[in-house]
Amino acid sequence: MKLIPLIRPYMTQEIKDQVCEVLDSGYLTEGPVTKEFEEVCRQYIQCEHAIAVSNCTVGLEIALRAVGVGPGDEVIVPDYTYPATASVVTIVGAKPVIVDINPDTMLIDYDAVEQAVTSKTKAIIPVSLFGNPLDYEQLYAIKKKHGVTLIEDAACALGADYKGSKVGSLADISVFSLHPRKFITTGEGGLITTHHQEWANWMSSYKHFGMAQASSRSNIIFERIGSNYKLSNVQSAIGLGQMKHINKLLDKRRSLAQRYTSILSTEPQIKCPTPTQNGTHSYQSYCVFVANRNKVIEQTREQGIETQIGTYSLHMHPAFQNNQHCKIYGDLPGSRYAYNHTLTLPLYHNLSEQEQDHVVQCLIQTVTNMSLEN
Ligand SMILES: Cc1ncc(COP(=O)(O)O)c(C=O)c1O
Repeated sequence: MKLIPLIRPYMTQEIKDQVCEVLDSGYLTEGPVTKEFEEVCRQYIQCEHAIAVSNCTVGLEIALRAVGVGPGDEVIVPDYTYPATASVVTIVGAKPVIVDINPDTMLIDYDAVEQAVTSKTKAIIPVSLFGNPLDYEQLYAIKKKHGVTLIEDAACALGADYKGSKVGSLADISVFSLHPRKFITTGEGGLITTHHQEWANWMSSYKHFGMAQASSRSNIIFERIGSNYKLSNVQSAIGLGQMKHINKLLDKRRSLAQRYTSILSTEPQIKCPTPTQNGTHSYQSYCVFVANRNKVIEQTREQGIETQIGTYSLHMHPAFQNNQHCKIYGDLPGSRYAYNHTLTLPLYHNLSEQEQDHVVQCLIQTVTNMSLEN
């Protein structure tokens, strides 16, 4: 039986040829191809600066360092997210304050953010989870009232928009992931975007051993302590090739997602995702809610369909239960509900309608059988 996977990277002969060209050039580390990739992304997102990095996690870490978050500071993050969103706060010496989400949109609960703000709050890292854009108007109101910096974990949200503006042009700093679960992927990789010149300069230097922007090959100056979070020419060639097709890839994801919703929304045992009002979801992941989710994953896999949980509820994991390192804000029922019920369905550029129909039929059959057993 042929497995229907969760995702398949978009890889054409043209992309492979471009990678081979870089390999043949001998210039494998970060260089002109990375610069070109950054520029293509910058123009697509319509932001002032786009900085390629090794992955989203280090991108978030650099963003926190650039805005000066450190020991003694608090940063508000949602509980329902990938651990990286909160871990980076601890890594820079600050304390993540973990709040609940809205279980419909699966995005941070804006009221909970408002309540969790203290005099120590320096930043918020909301997550445009699964490609669902945040409600920026709510976030701007919080930012204005409390003077906090908005660093968006946009790991899954390349291509999503809010009121016609692309995610990546809306927060103070946004960070995308280019991991293979994302539809534009460089294997491992990340992209930081901002309109802020000074932070952009700082981040570009920090990711490159602290090198001054004005350095030339014959006169390299290290102006600060930095690290190495570069994205190679080889990786950038993959991303560059994929970015040429981003609109086509997004249209395909959106039409498949719409097809899932139109069929599954009439099923009483399945709840479909709720996109943010005034936003356009990129459907990085198409997640539904079902009962007995883990059993559904097992049984759909037995039928040759790869399904997966949505993401994690941080407070249910030991790493985030040490209150010296983290502050869990209140009870987190929305996040627990999402953690226990979300199911990610296969979605990729060449998923055929027949394959999608097979996924849908197996899913409906599986949840119906389970409800009859219970
Ligand atoms: C919401 C979120 N943030 C951060 C990350 C980490 O991304 P990366 O693997 O590029 O470091 C992920 C990974 O899937 C994610 O889903």
